[in-house]
Amino acid sequence: MTARIIDGVKLAASIREDVAKRAANLTAAGMRPGLAVILVGSDPASQVYVRNKVAACEKAGLHSVMEQYPADMTQEELLKRIQALNADPTIHGILVQLPLPKHIDSHLVIETIAASKDVDGFHVSNAGLLMTGKPLFRPCTPYGVMKMLESEKVEIRGAVAVIVGASNIVGKPMAMLLQSAGATVTICNSKTRDLAWHTSHADIVVVATGKPRMVTGSMIKPGAVVIDVGINRTPEGKLCGDVDFESAKEVVSAITPVPGGVGPMTIAMLLVNTIEAAERARANT
Ligand code: GUN
Repeated sequence: MTARIIDGVKLAASIREDVAKRAANLTAAGMRPGLAVILVGSDPASQVYVRNKVAACEKAGLHSVMEQYPADMTQEELLKRIQALNADPTIHGILVQLPLPKHIDSHLVIETIAASKDVDGFHVSNAGLLMTGKPLFRPCTPYGVMKMLESEKVEIRGAVAVIVGASNIVGKPMAMLLQSAGATVTICNSKTRDLAWHTSHADIVVVATGKPRMVTGSMIKPGAVVIDVGINRTPEGKLCGDVDFESAKEVVSAITPVPGGVGPMTIAMLLVNTIEAAERARANT
């Protein structure tokens, strides 16, 4: 079978173009959409992610503020910064890059972000709205995956979807979005017995484990669609996903590459969430 390679770079570019038009309209109407990104510490991967997010904002005409703090910043100082950004009318979206240093309670930090500015969609009130089918913000990575499935015209209604990885950032919200779209969803985790049994019965497999190439072609049903959320570096310094692309592409009908798959979509959907936050703020003024 010749697999379709789902081009996240191309789809993300078209989404960013649409965001740029909406940003220009808002700016012309006197409200430039603004995103604040906070990074605590100097994790090299997080620094790259945050820089990419801020650069994408600038390119789409959004105002962006990047605040970088040392790893020993206190929790109280961070909460104060968030409260100031909550009250700042030029900022419509706030993102605190995860993971945070161990002495900071991530849950408390997320709950301190105003739900209306929580462009990650991680606040409990946004998680609850997503779960009950009335999302305000959809978490960026799962939202990007849904857009990819949509653009590929993948039938979600009635499909069997298996998600490998049960994080709050990807796995759990991914399950909610697929379930709302009519899929029958299983979330697998690191304790799942016979993971291959689950994955090999799925029409759609989403993998977000952080374990390089752990899902191989022999674990996939012929013709399934595979979405690889992972991004890992091999000992040789090459990027690879959580799926073994070479063996998987021989059995799937469509698959996302790494790099150039889900990664660019996560950033594009962050811009969508920010523009939506700004449009809502404008409607409420
Ligand atoms: N760390 C890894 N992915 C994400 C994300 O989508 N948002 C935030 N804030 N941190 C992350």
